Amino acid sequence: MTTSAHPLAHFDVQEIRKDFPILNDGTRTRPLSYLDSAATSQKPAVVLNAMHDYYVHANANVHRGVHELGDAATSRFEHARHRVARFLNADPRGLIFVRNTTEALNLVATGIARQGGLMASDRVVLSVLEHHSNIVPWQLERSTHGFAIAAIPLHPDGTLDMDEARKLLAPPTKLLSITYQSNVLGTVTPLKELIAMAHEAGILVAVDGAQRVPHARVDMKDLNCDFFAMSGHKVYGPMGSGILWGKPELLSSMSPFLGGGSMIDTVTFERTTWAELPQKFEAGTPDVAAAVGLAAACDYIDSLTYEAIEAHEKDLMQHLLHMLDSLPYIDVYGPNDRERIVGAVSFNVRGVHAHDVGTICDRHGVAIRVGHHCCQPLMRHLGVPATARASVAAYVTHDDIDSLGEALADVASIFGQVITQHTSPASQMEHRHA
Ligand SMILES: Cc1ncc(COP(=O)(O)O)c(C=O)c1O
Repeated sequence: MTTSAHPLAHFDVQEIRKDFPILNDGTRTRPLSYLDSAATSQKPAVVLNAMHDYYVHANANVHRGVHELGDAATSRFEHARHRVARFLNADPRGLIFVRNTTEALNLVATGIARQGGLMASDRVVLSVLEHHSNIVPWQLERSTHGFAIAAIPLHPDGTLDMDEARKLLAPPTKLLSITYQSNVLGTVTPLKELIAMAHEAGILVAVDGAQRVPHARVDMKDLNCDFFAMSGHKVYGPMGSGILWGKPELLSSMSPFLGGGSMIDTVTFERTTWAELPQKFEAGTPDVAAAVGLAAACDYIDSLTYEAIEAHEKDLMQHLLHMLDSLPYIDVYGPNDRERIVGAVSFNVRGVHAHDVGTICDRHGVAIRVGHHCCQPLMRHLGVPATARASVAAYVTHDDIDSLGEALADVASIFGQVITQHTSPASQMEHRHA
C-alpha cells in the first residue's frame, strides 16, 4: 500500500512569511494582518529579486536589438512567456502579455467586435457576478457595434441560475464572458459545464480568471475555454503583469487591440499588415520586468505547490467562516454550504456601513477590502451598497483571522446601539426573494 504525504507536510506558514519582505517590515508601527490579497497579493523576495536582476543584468528593448543586451532582454521575456504558458498548460503562441485582467478583457472585446465578430443581431452573455472589467468593455463595443448584452441571473444565495444560463446559451448568443471565481462571494462557477453548453451551441467562451489562479491550478487544455484573462499581481507577481491567453486560430483572425511598433509586419500609408502571434497583440515596448516577475511567481507557486496552498487556504477559510458565523451581528453573503466559499468572503456588520468596519479594522492593523468591489450589479442583487471582504493567501495565519475577530468585536461595541435597532440586510434579502 502506498501512502502519499499530506499536502501540508512541508508547509510552514511562518517560514513562508519570511519570503515576503513587507510582512517583516520593521518600519511599521503596528503588526499587519493582511486580509486583502484578493485585491492584490504581497510579493515574495524571489519575484522582487528576479525583476531587480533583469534591470541590473539584462535591460534593453526587446525584439529589436542587434546587441548582446537586446538579446538577453528578449531571451528573458520569451522565457517568461514559455514559463507562464507551461504554468497554465497553454500553447505559448496564444499567450499575450498585458498589464492586467482589465486590459485582457478589453483586448478580447475589441479584437472580436472590430473584426466583425459581434454585430447588431448578436448577443453577448455575462453574469450578475461580473467585475466591472468584464462588463464595461462589452458595453463600450456595444455602443459601436450594437449587439445585445444579457446577464445570467443568480439564485438568492449568489450561485448561478443554470436553467437561465442554458436558455441564454443559444442563438443569437455569440459569446459568453464569465468569471471563474467571484471576487465578492468566493464562489467558483461551474465553468466546464458552461463551456460545454456554450460550445455545443457554437458560442465562444472568455473567462475572467483573476480570482481563480491565486487559489487553484488552471489548465487551459483541460478547461478548453477560448480566451482566458488573469492578473499577475493577484498571484504573488508584480503589478503591471497579466496575460490574455487565446486559442491561436481565434487570435489570428481577430483585429489587433492597440496599434504601433512591434505589432506590424509592413506599414505603408495605405495599408499595414500585422506581425505573427503573439506580437500582433503586443504593441509598443512591453513591461519585460513585469513578465520576468510573473514567471518567478509561477516558480514560487510551484515550489509551494497548489495542493499545499489549497489545503492551507481551506483550513483558513474554515476558521474565518466559523468566526464570522459565530458572531450574531454579522451577515455573511453567499451559499449556506460554506465549503463553496473559497479564498474570499463578503460580510457586513449589521447596521454599520462597510467603510466604518474597514476603518476600525485598520486601527487594529487588519487590512480588509470594503465597498462595492467593482461589482455594482452584484451589490444590487445582494440588496446592499457595499460589503466588507476578507481574503486569504499562502502567508495568512489563524492569528490574522483572530485579529479580524477582535476588530469586529470592537466594531460591535462601538456601534452597539445601532446594531440592536437595525433590521438585518439578510432578513431583508430573504423577504425580497420570497
Ligand atoms: C474577478 C475580477 N476580475 C477582474 C479584476 C480586475 O483586475 P485588474 O484590476 O488587475 O485588471 C478583478 C480585480 O479585483 C477581479 O477580482
